Amino acid sequence: MKVCIVGASGKLGQYMLQHCLDHNYEVVGVCREQSIAKLDRFKDRVTIIPGKTNDREVIRRAVEGCDGVLAVLVPWGVQKYSSGTAQAVLDYAPPGARLIFSCGWHITRDGRDVYSRLFKTLVATVGWLARLLRFVELDDQVEACRRIFSSDTRWTVVRGSDLEEGESQGLPVWSHHVGDPILKSNLTRRIDFALFMVEALTNEGLIHEAPAIVGRQTPSALEHASQPL
Ligand SMILES: NC(=O)c1ccc[n+]([C@@H]2O[C@H](COP(=O)([O-])OP(=O)(O)OC[C@H]3O[C@@H](n4cnc5c(N)ncnc54)[C@H](OP(=O)(O)O)[C@@H]3O)[C@@H](O)[C@H]2O)c1
Repeated sequence: MKVCIVGASGKLGQYMLQHCLDHNYEVVGVCREQSIAKLDRFKDRVTIIPGKTNDREVIRRAVEGCDGVLAVLVPWGVQKYSSGTAQAVLDYAPPGARLIFSCGWHITRDGRDVYSRLFKTLVATVGWLARLLRFVELDDQVEACRRIFSSDTRWTVVRGSDLEEGESQGLPVWSHHVGDPILKSNLTRRIDFALFMVEALTNEGLIHEAPAIVGRQTPSALEHASQPL
């Protein structure tokens, strides 16, 4: 399988890269010019295409011939970074390719997610501060996902909980809606978020789903482990 990782030099991207190599996938990585050195340890095993991930020409070249695309959606700057990245992937990935996008729990597909008061306050505060300082554009990640949800490509949007570093605990568990009891612990190891993204490439059951994930060893996951999802 040939896989393109859009945003390969970030923390999530590097974990995805390692998981893909562990699967013996052929990998093309897109990352900003100034971040190429972060991928030094992979350089003999990966084709790197330097550039911003919302540069349509960069994405067009990178996804050519790929069976799957793993795209990290990030809302940096006031430059439509997330929606530009998502749109380019949707437009240029080969027909039939599996497209897996990352985002956070604040994205809702059908409005049926139930958020705690703390979570809503946090998102509102971060969004307000970010708009004020013009360094993050949370609304653009929402717009990116709106476009993905209305696309007829073979997409999956993986919604990550709060993240932590650490050894893998295995494939996270997931549920359709934030607020479902199994997700209550709201914590996933970043390495396992990446694992879920990579496993989604070959899981047809996740096509047109927006799974909200949580670490499989967290208390809420263990408590609800026997219940089928
Ligand atoms: N952090 C969390 O707690 C959290 C929680 C839930 C979900 N998520 C989701 O997880 C995914 C990865 O998040 P992460 O926090 O782990 O970050 P990350 O993997 O470290 O990714 C950050 C990405 O943003 C790029 N980037 C950084 N500064 C930039 C700038 N000024 N302009 C353009 N690109 C820039 C980085 O590229 P360079 O390598 O070039 O800097 C990298 O590709 C995202 O989709 C996020 O929504 C995160």
